[in-house]
Amino acid sequence: MSRIVDQPESYFSRLVRRDDPLLRELEHEAQIEKIPIVGPVVGELLFILSVTMRAQAILELGTATGYSAICLARACAVNAGRLTTLEIDPGFAARARKNLERAGLAPHATVIGGEALPRMSEMKGPFDLIFMDIDKIDYARALGDCHRLLRPSGLLVADNVAFPDADEFNRAVFSDTGWQPVSLFAFLPGHSPERDGLCLALRR
Ligand SMILES: C[S@@+](CC[C@H](N)C(=O)[O-])C[C@H]1O[C@@H](n2cnc3c(N)ncnc32)[C@H](O)[C@@H]1O
Repeated sequence: MSRIVDQPESYFSRLVRRDDPLLRELEHEAQIEKIPIVGPVVGELLFILSVTMRAQAILELGTATGYSAICLARACAVNAGRLTTLEIDPGFAARARKNLERAGLAPHATVIGGEALPRMSEMKGPFDLIFMDIDKIDYARALGDCHRLLRPSGLLVADNVAFPDADEFNRAVFSDTGWQPVSLFAFLPGHSPERDGLCLALRR
């Protein structure tokens, strides 16, 4: 019978890269101010997915202070692409712009203030990847525009799908033949919260 390591949470908490001073600073700030950010594991995952799929146009819904935006915009810098990120809170949008500038990523990222759903409905695609991280209750309503804005075989990544408010989204994405979804429930060190689900859905 196969066995996993003892105390997998502490084991895997040690297997996390923590060598980026700006991201560490934003993690520290997020902890103090209780800002729910994706943290180092999902941040790295977003970077790796975006680089491997050579994403040149990325849309993020929910910027906060720009932690995940920095990870996505770094991939855009590798791919000669551009991130557009939408944030309802003007204070957060201003902080994110400053942090992206500090990271040297201003040429690869645009922070747009305002409510994501109407902004999306005015947008034209195609995007290669959309990262969804707004209020979970809005995920299901954003799904139609995500499908319209993603190119065929583009990728939707939805965070926090273990939240009860994401249930309508989970049921919708799994019952719509326009998507090929997979849900991962995982221990994610530094993520808010650390035990949570991510949905990766291929746009058909
Ligand atoms: C979970 S935080 C985003 C964290 C960020 N993605 C990260 O990991 O660094 C969610 C953010 O989405 C914003 N937000 C929530 N609902 C929104 C909506 N309908 N439109 C735009 N922004 C929204 C909130 O103000 C908050 O800053």
